[in-house]
Amino acid sequence: MTDDYQLFTEKVYSKLGIDLKKYKEAQMKRRLTSLRDKRGYKDFITYFKAINDDLNLLHEFMDRITINVSEFYRNPKRWEVLKDSVIPLIIKNKQELTIWSAACSTGEEPYSIAMLLSEYFPKLKTTIIATDIDEKVLEKAKQGMYSEQALKELPTNLKVKYFKEIGNQFVVDSAIKRKVTFKKHNLLEDKYPNDVDLIICRNVLIYFTDNAKDTIYQNFSNALTNNGILFVGSTEQIFSPNKFRLALLDTFFYQKISQ
Ligand SMILES: C[S@@+](CC[C@H](N)C(=O)[O-])C[C@H]1O[C@@H](n2cnc3c(N)ncnc32)[C@H](O)[C@@H]1O
Repeated sequence: MTDDYQLFTEKVYSKLGIDLKKYKEAQMKRRLTSLRDKRGYKDFITYFKAINDDLNLLHEFMDRITINVSEFYRNPKRWEVLKDSVIPLIIKNKQELTIWSAACSTGEEPYSIAMLLSEYFPKLKTTIIATDIDEKVLEKAKQGMYSEQALKELPTNLKVKYFKEIGNQFVVDSAIKRKVTFKKHNLLEDKYPNDVDLIICRNVLIYFTDNAKDTIYQNFSNALTNNGILFVGSTEQIFSPNKFRLALLDTFFYQKISQ
């Protein structure tokens, strides 16, 4: 790491509480160097001064580090497994589920789970918390307005039932919106919730260093109830899940081993 980038990461941490050192360095540095060059700053320290003074540059910088791409029912086969085997398994002996969609971006993931539960498990009581580090995406998530592209993997019955088409936008049904509580949460810094039955955390851990990932897996495991489930993204298999008291249940689903 050059001194310039090192100093930049320290300044970003004290300004925003985001520890860039816990994200894979080569990838992050490449992304930020290209943005910095595009804006005409020759080193990271002058670039930091600029983002510190200019809100537009700061938002653009946040967009570049957070990578907010999402969609409803991303990797649809996994959502079918969730519906057909994972949820039936965890609701044995339970009438109530607590679900956490961590790093939820613009809300497609927590709304997907809210729709799935309303449609197929209508009697189940649910608490759905959805969090992200980026306040801008959380605002968008609360609005619940999407382009048709974001819905391309969503089964038609859910699309028809839970959206209203307004112009070229699709708006999430207000009963579904009310089921999800959005909050700001930094996976690398903040306290994790307790007694969660299902954590959905997909397509963010790939950006972190192995050390940071291990800490997050341990925190997720601590946050889960006995036999609770962690649902990860389709490139994010955990190599030694038992280190974290987790066992592979199905591809990209891990279950907390009860004591
Ligand atoms: C690619 S999106 C994933 C969205 C959704 N989970 C999915 O799979 O479609 C990654 C999200 O992780 C969030 N993120 C990045 N670093 C984070 C951190 N330290 N804590 C919480 N969220 C973070 C970003 O803001 C972004 O919205």
